[in-house]
Formats: sequence, structure tokens, C-alpha cells
Amino acid sequence: MSHDDRPAPMAQDADREPKAFGVYIHWPFCLSKCPYCDFNSHVRREPIDEARFVRAYAAEIGATAARVPGRTVNSIFFGGGTPSLMQPATVAAVLDHVAQHFSVAANVEVTLEANPTSVEAARFRGYRAAGVNRVSLGVQALDDRVLAELGRLHSAREALEAVGIARSIFDRYSFDLIYARPQQSSQQWAEELKIALGEAGEHLSLYQLTIEPDTPFAALHAAGKLRTPDDDTARALYDLTQDLCAAYGLPAYEVSNHARPGGECRHNLIYWRGHEYAGIGPGAHGRLDIGGERHATATEKRPEAWLKLVEASGHGVVTDEILIPEEVSDEILLMGLRLAEGIDIARYEAASGRPLDPERIALLRAHGLIEITPAGRLRVTPPGFPVLDAVVADLAA
Ligand SMILES: C[S@@+](CC[C@H](N)C(=O)[O-])C[C@H]1O[C@@H](n2cnc3c(N)ncnc32)[C@H](O)[C@@H]1O
Ligand code: SF4
Repeated sequence: MSHDDRPAPMAQDADREPKAFGVYIHWPFCLSKCPYCDFNSHVRREPIDEARFVRAYAAEIGATAARVPGRTVNSIFFGGGTPSLMQPATVAAVLDHVAQHFSVAANVEVTLEANPTSVEAARFRGYRAAGVNRVSLGVQALDDRVLAELGRLHSAREALEAVGIARSIFDRYSFDLIYARPQQSSQQWAEELKIALGEAGEHLSLYQLTIEPDTPFAALHAAGKLRTPDDDTARALYDLTQDLCAAYGLPAYEVSNHARPGGECRHNLIYWRGHEYAGIGPGAHGRLDIGGERHATATEKRPEAWLKLVEASGHGVVTDEILIPEEVSDEILLMGLRLAEGIDIARYEAASGRPLDPERIALLRAHGLIEITPAGRLRVTPPGFPVLDAVVADLAA
């Protein structure tokens, strides 16, 4: 099947489902810093005082729960950094604190991001006993030379072994690969992706390498020492990705995320569908609906400063901004159009207080970049996805 005629994998009435609530917990430490990565992650020589972090997480969870009483948690996500460096007892304690302050849905999804080394895989059983029911592994590549260039601390074999251990312990697992890497040919990527699809469960995240400002990769790129694929090559790699994943039964449900129907990451759907989530831990972002207004929150990024702030004031929130209708509706477009299911037009118009511009809609439809479903959803077409940023910018302007 070509990527142009693959079916939309998800229900059309997604916005009529009850709103979901997620809790994101950020663990800000890694063993080393990968040269492409600009996530809020830090390397420390001294051991981390995990008990002190648990107390601070507990305080911030309690303070957030008090702002949004009555919520039921549908998803908890430990992201990083490298949460698989946390002791299982630390993860268990944090989950206990979430349950003390919120009601938690019986079928809650609890995901933990893990680096695929043998040391970390040895903790997987402990994480499951703590309540984690899904892991997401950062495999990144299946070629040892490339893994070394990406600054990774694991080999391809070790990563695949970690995937195997995850499969034997968790019903739900996912792993990440980065493609459109320097000098990567379509043939190399096809071979690598086929191996990955053979190892995949219900979910795969496939990210095109982005050169993030102020990273070592950005400096190499600026100096001409790291050449990313040109637009045509990147497009060919993207098309190949869509076709292969669809053929293996894992179509894209989001720009970079592929799943068997029903295997989507429910936590990330909360972000893309514009539902509510609490951001806990250093540099975590949240969106909370309080008194009819949407709050965008962010906490102090530096781990030690965050600890001190929470210890002094009970939470580490440094930004708490009420979004104006235009910002809320722009977020609906920016996040929702990443999904194959698209957005509910009525919901967008209720949030923004104005209709989408009919002329722009007509032009984008005439170019085959968007479509409107009979159920009143606006979604980007397969040919529209490679130019998603331009489509969103056009509609949001
Ligand atoms: C929070 S990060 C990593 C989780 C975990 N620490 C790891 O490295 O395995 C989540 C994912 O973002 C992706 N990522 C990070 N920086 C990227 C970049 N510059 N370009 C593309 N993907 C990137 C990687 O695939 C990574 O697994
Ligand atoms: S990619 Fe993962 S391991 Fe590497 S620095 Fe970023 S968060 Fe840490």
C-alpha cells in the first residue's frame, strides 16, 4: 500500500471522548550527554539523592492536585533525561504519591523512558513491580558505527537485547529510532527499519534527525562537518518510512509515531488532543484547565535550583500563564494536526471564537494538503504531512 491511500487509523469522534488527564514526571539526569540532544538533561559526577527528589516530587504532585481537584489520572509518564537510571523504589514511591493525591483510572497507562543498556534492562522487572506497564526505549540506530557517532553508550546488539527483555516483561513497549542521519541512504534505512519492524510490538517512534541550536551537532553542522540529507533525500526517507510501516501494520497515527490500531501512546495523545496534563519535576511543562481558563505551566529547569525552590515554597512552578483564546486555538492546530485523525473544527472554533478562514481552507484543499471529513474534522492528507509546518502556519496566521 502506498502512503497516499493508507486509512486513518483512529476513531473519527476522538474529541467526543471524555477528556483525559496525564501526569508527566521529569527525571533530568543522564550518564552522558548525546551531541544531538537538547532535552533538559544533565550529567552529574556525584550520586543523585533520590530520596530528596521523591520528597520534592511528592510536594509538587500535592500542590498540583490541589489546583485541579476531582481529576482522574489516565496516564503517568516518566520522561527524561534517563528515567531508567531511577531506582525502582523511587518510581514506586512517586506512583504512590500520585495515587495519594489523585484518583487513578483502573486502566492507567504508566510509561517509563529507558536507555537500552543491559544495566537498565536489569531494572525492568522492578519497574513492573512498581506499577510501570509500558516502556519506551531509545534505540536510535541499529548500526554500531552510527551509535558511536550519536554518542550512545550501547551497541545495536545490546539495544536489541534490551528490546527483547522489555517484550518478555511488558505487554506494551515501544522504541525510538532517529533517521535522516548524515550519509544515510534509502537502502540502508530500509534494511534498518525492516529489522526494527520485525522487533516492534504495537508502537514505534521514528524521528528525523533535527539539528538543535547550541548542541555539539549544531556546531559541527555550522562548520560543514556534519551534513544532513538534502530535502529530496529526506523526503524519500520519509516516504519509505510511511510505506514500510504501513505494510507492517504500524501506520503513522502522528507525524513521527506509528502504532497498530489501539497501540497508540495514550500519554502523548493527551498532548496532541489538547487535553490536560500536570508537569512535575525540573523543566516540566503542564496544561491545566482551571475556572474555564487554560493555564500553561513550566517549572524551574535546573535540577538543584528546582529542588531548593520546591523545598522552600512547595512547588517549582516559575511560569503560570493564562492562554488567550488565540493561543489556545493555535495550540489545537499545532498539536492536533500532527495526528492522522486531525482536529474537530467545532472545537477549534469554540476555542478561538472565530471560524477558520474559508479561503485558506479552500486553497489548501484544492492543493490536496488537507481534507474535511463528514464528521466535521479537519485533517492533513498524506501529501500534506511533509509540509505540515507550512500548512499549520497558513491556518494559524
Ligand atoms: C527524551 S529523549 C530520550 C530518552 C532516553 N534518554 C534515550 O536517549 O534513550 C526522547 C527521544 O527523542 C529523540 N531525539 C532527541 N533528540 C533528537 C534530535 N535532535 N533529533 C531527532 N530525535 C531526537 C530520540 O529518539 C530520543 O529517544
Ligand atoms: S538522548 Fe537521551 S540519553 Fe542522550 S542526552 Fe538526551 S535524554 Fe540523555
